[in-house]
Amino acid sequence: MKKSSKAKLLTVFASLSLALAACSSDSSSSNEKDKNSSSSNGKKVTIVYARGKDVTKGTAKMVEAFEKSHKNIDVKFQEMPADTGKQHDQYITAFNAKSTGIDVIDMDVIWPAEFAQADYVLPLDRFIQQDGIDLNEYNQGALAAAQFNGKQWALPKFVDAGLLFYRKDLVKENEVPKTWDDLIKQAKAKQGQGGSKFGYIMQAKQYEGLVCNAVEFVSAYGGKFINEKNEVTVNSPETIKGLKKLVEVAKSSIVPGNVTTFSELETDQAYIEGQSVFVRNWPYEYASANDKEKSKIAGNVGVAPLPAGDKGSAAALGGWMAGINKNTKHPKEAWEFLKFMAGEEGQKIDAIYGGHAPTILKLYQDQDVLKANPTFGDKGFQDGLAAAVSRPVAPNYPEISEIIQIHVSNAIAGKETVEQAVQAMDKEMKEKLKS
Ligand code: GLC
Repeated sequence: MKKSSKAKLLTVFASLSLALAACSSDSSSSNEKDKNSSSSNGKKVTIVYARGKDVTKGTAKMVEAFEKSHKNIDVKFQEMPADTGKQHDQYITAFNAKSTGIDVIDMDVIWPAEFAQADYVLPLDRFIQQDGIDLNEYNQGALAAAQFNGKQWALPKFVDAGLLFYRKDLVKENEVPKTWDDLIKQAKAKQGQGGSKFGYIMQAKQYEGLVCNAVEFVSAYGGKFINEKNEVTVNSPETIKGLKKLVEVAKSSIVPGNVTTFSELETDQAYIEGQSVFVRNWPYEYASANDKEKSKIAGNVGVAPLPAGDKGSAAALGGWMAGINKNTKHPKEAWEFLKFMAGEEGQKIDAIYGGHAPTILKLYQDQDVLKANPTFGDKGFQDGLAAAVSRPVAPNYPEISEIIQIHVSNAIAGKETVEQAVQAMDKEMKEKLKS
C-alpha cells in the first residue's frame, strides 16, 4: 500500500489503539481442552448455536475446533436470516415464546440493551467470575456495548467498521478515491473495465445496513441523526448535505439499477464475481473475496477507508457478540462454547478464516492473524475502528432505525426530497424519544 493511502487508512482506523494499549497478554484459551468433561453426567450434549449466514469459513472452522477440544459437546448450527433486522425479529418471537430451541446466539451491537431489559439472555457475570476471564483483554468499547444495568449480557466476538474495497487489478494505489466526489469520478471512469458491470455497490435496501451507510455519509459531512445527549439533531444543513450525497450515489449510473435490493450478501456476491470496481462492506469482505475456492478476484482485493465528505471519512460502528438464551437447558455447555468463541482461540480462528476484526486486543499483534489479514496490522485500521461512529443509542433503537430506513429509502426513490425526509425524521424521532 502506498504511503499516503496507508496513512489515510491509519487515520480512518487508531483510537482502538488506546484500548489496544490496555491489552494484557495472558492467554488461557488453549487450556480449555478437556475441561468440559463435566457435561451432564458425562453424556454428550448437543447445543444449538444461531447466527446469520456466514459467507466466510470462520464459523465452521470455529465450531470444528471447539468440538475437537470439547468431546462432550456437539454444536448444531442454526442459520438465521442475514438481514440483522429479520434475525432480530425471529429471536424476539422465539424468546417471547420461551423457546429452548436455541442455546447460544450472536447479537448485533444494537441489541443488548433491549435483550437485557426484556430478560431474553442470561447475565454472564457469574460465569466470567467463576472462570476468571480477564475482561481487560477486550476492546473496552465493544465490551461496554454488551453491558446494561451494570451487568455483562454478552461477550464481544468482533468489531465492524465500514470500509471501501476495490479491485486492485483495476485501481492503482494512487487512484484510490479520497472523497465521495472522487469515488463517483473514478467509478465512472473504470466501470466496464476488466469485465466489471458496476462502478460502486453500497447497501441501499430498506434495512439496517442502509442506516449504516446513511450514518457514514451524514458523519462524513458533519451531521448526526441523534447526538450524545439523546437529542434529535437530524434537521441540519450537514445531515442534509450528507444524505444528498448518498442519494446522488444511489441514483447514479455507477451502482446497479436495483441497488435498493442490495444488502451485504448481494454486495459480497457481486464483488467476488468481479462485477464491481468498488464496494462498501465490513472487514470480512477481505477474507471472503480472497477465498480462492469461490472468488474470481482472490489476490486482487484492495481495501481503504471510505471516501471523505467535507468533514472527513467516517465508518459506521458495527459488530457482534455472543449471548445465552435465558431458557437454555444447557447453560454450562452454552457458556463453554460462548467462552471459546469470544475467547482468544475462537477469535483467532474467526480473524484468520472469517476476516473479522477481533475484540481481544493482543490478536492485533498475532503473526498468523496479520498474515491472513494484513490490514489489521495497520495503525490506521485500528484507529478507524476506534473512531467509528455509533448508531443512535436509544432504548427503542429498532423504532428509530425504522424511521431512518423509511425516509432515506423515500429520498432514494424520489418520493420525498432530502429536506422533506429530514423534516419527517425529525418529527417522528422526537415523538419516539418522548415515548
Ligand atoms: C453488520 C454489523 C452490524 C450491522 C449490520 C447491518 O453485520 O456488524 O452491527 O447492524 O451489519 O447490516
